Amino acid sequence: MWSEFGKRMASHSGIGELMDDLGRAMAGQADMLMLGGGNPAGIPAVQEVWRQDMAALLEDADRFDRIMCHYDTPQGNTRFLAAVAKLFRDQYGWEIGPENVAVTNSSQNAYFMLLNMLAGQCEDGSQKKILLPVAPEYIGYADQGLSDDMFVACKPVITEIGDHEFKYHVDFDNLVIGDDIGAVCVSRPTNPTGNVLTDEEVQRLAAMTKERGIPLLIDSAYGAPFPNIIFGDVTPFWDEHVILTLSLSKLGLPGTRTGVVIASEEVIKAVASANAIISLASGNIGQALVVSHMESGRILKLSREIVRPFYEKRLHQALGWVDESFDKSLPWRLHTCEGALFLWLWCRDMPIDSCEFYERLKKRGVLVVPGHYFFYGLGDDWPHRHECIRINYSQPEATVREGLRIIAEEMRTVYG
Ligand SMILES: Cc1ncc(COP(=O)(O)O)c(C=O)c1O
Repeated sequence: MWSEFGKRMASHSGIGELMDDLGRAMAGQADMLMLGGGNPAGIPAVQEVWRQDMAALLEDADRFDRIMCHYDTPQGNTRFLAAVAKLFRDQYGWEIGPENVAVTNSSQNAYFMLLNMLAGQCEDGSQKKILLPVAPEYIGYADQGLSDDMFVACKPVITEIGDHEFKYHVDFDNLVIGDDIGAVCVSRPTNPTGNVLTDEEVQRLAAMTKERGIPLLIDSAYGAPFPNIIFGDVTPFWDEHVILTLSLSKLGLPGTRTGVVIASEEVIKAVASANAIISLASGNIGQALVVSHMESGRILKLSREIVRPFYEKRLHQALGWVDESFDKSLPWRLHTCEGALFLWLWCRDMPIDSCEFYERLKKRGVLVVPGHYFFYGLGDDWPHRHECIRINYSQPEATVREGLRIIAEEMRTVYG
């Protein structure tokens, strides 16, 4: 009964199974330590801001009715588009206007449209792919392609730092952008690793893609200037061929499903057109809640003074608990956490693979994400892909501390 598209959508994806598994485990066991999902933390001071804005919206009957009772344009709410363009113009000097901004029903949804508009079967008969310059990369792209083998990923260069830290870098010596590549895509900060590509790496990727006349997609779901879950000094980057995406989710508003795309006018027109076909228009509640903060610049203050410090503090606590409980004689390493919500743990030469490690941890009441899901698009097998797990460090203190203690214990048992 299903079309090719139907089969793709209805079939069980790796991440679909995993999310289901996590959901069931959580439903069945209230005391499960949930370090697996990608949910942002509930930050009380931020939640209070959104609650107050929602209350003010309810008080203003005229505005409330206008928002609830109207479809916006497929590109987004005109006031919101102007506010986003002005924020980036003022903040970074980018020469952009509302014609360079579109709103989508989540950035996940933006990627479904963009990845399939830029790769797959083309008019000239070629089959274009998306190049991921650094594997591991965000699992959420992996099953979005409407053609087979949509992704080609590159192994990174690994720098080992001290006894228990490491960092991935783009392997420019082996990075070739072939004729079959329709676009290059990176998340910055990266889910799952917390890596943040350096300004130099981004500039080199931008130069390489510009030369080839293809877009560079930069997924800034955790990046600057909002939500700003980024701990070093890096500069957001944009150019005419760059498609930058942002999201309101990690600002504590995942329920509003609001994504933002900043790109050339041509790309924005295509996104608006796809939005009209798929959704008519995007939801406008998220835009309505955030627009005045965007116009006043308060969103920058909120991100800089509340969101980032919250995650930075929790990260340092988590690293302290790792230090407290992990056995230093074992060959584990954590990726340098430069942003996002995750600790990326590499258990080198572990006698079991990350799936089995995940199962063992689940039996002990700790949920993490096995790392092999994030290594799609790699041609050959690579032991490293079976040696990593992703741990969400942003959950309540007691949960993270106890979860890390159990991971440490289990690791000791596994290595024997
Ligand atoms: C790197 C990255 N991109 C995009 C998304 C999708 O975010 P949303 O659809 O909530 O905007 C996520 C969600 O966790 C993510 O981690």
